Amino acid sequence: MIKIKNVVKSYGDSNILDGVSLDIDPGDFVVILGPSGCGKTTLLKSINKMHPIEKGDIIVDGLSISKWDKVALRKSIGYVIQQVGLLPHLTVRENIEFTLKLQGLGKTEKNKVSSKLISLMGMNEEILDRRPRELSGGQKQRVGVARALAADAEIILMDEPFGAVDEIVRRNLQSEIKRLHKDLGKTIVFVTHDIEEALFLGTKIVFMDKGRIIQVSSKEELVFYPKTETVKNFIGRKGIKSLLSEEELDGIYESKKKELV
Ligand SMILES: Nc1ncnc2c1ncn2[C@@H]1O[C@H](COP(=O)(O)OP(=O)(O)OP(=O)(O)O)[C@@H](O)[C@H]1O
Ligand SMILES: [Mg+2]
Repeated sequence: MIKIKNVVKSYGDSNILDGVSLDIDPGDFVVILGPSGCGKTTLLKSINKMHPIEKGDIIVDGLSISKWDKVALRKSIGYVIQQVGLLPHLTVRENIEFTLKLQGLGKTEKNKVSSKLISLMGMNEEILDRRPRELSGGQKQRVGVARALAADAEIILMDEPFGAVDEIVRRNLQSEIKRLHKDLGKTIVFVTHDIEEALFLGTKIVFMDKGRIIQVSSKEELVFYPKTETVKNFIGRKGIKSLLSEEELDGIYESKKKELV
């Protein structure tokens, strides 16, 4: 569904994307993981033509993005930007319905969609008439996800969508997005630098470093067979913990506790 072929992009003398190739299949939950500045956001923005690429190609649904009309491409790909980016002067409802305007839906139909999405994201409808400044960080992030789902695109790009919230809210949001992926069957490309988040969500993990893809693998392979020292150091012991079930973790907790008595 998305084929990224040998993509190169540079700012000045340095290659930010240095020959990146990746296949994303329908229904994949691809997580792009890697240190700050390695090119994750740049890669995501290249997919829906927010950043032009210099070399290589990206094929979306069989057509090169150079041939895709920008507006049509962005209608078929939902996007949650890093730092949420809700429009501050619009209400939550108007933010969510923003992309639906382009499709020429009537008011009743638009309202139906926004109400459905708000409840899908586990929020109350009364929030629809508020403005972004009247929301908590977690609520803003949920609205950001709801907005990306509004156009009902098959592909959704998410750039650290849960970056600005505490651990508990983050875990709730992760469970919700995992459930949405399962229920709605969307293809998700999700950027994070949080290892636990990556291993919890991803069906395919892509590790990037300095503008290159170092490893594409399952979570187990990433943890036990890291391809390079950089991957190994980045994933570390947190990786093993993320693969353990709640029961296994509880077992370890209880046995360590006993050792103290
Ligand atoms: N407009 C720009 N001009 C020059 N350099 C840029 C520009 N945008 C990004 N960069 C550089 O490109 C590199 C990759 O940036 P990018 O935003 O893709 O990183 P990232 O992996 O998303 O990082 P983070 O985890 O911090 O969000 C960084 O070194 C960044 O400084
Ligand atoms: Mg980024």
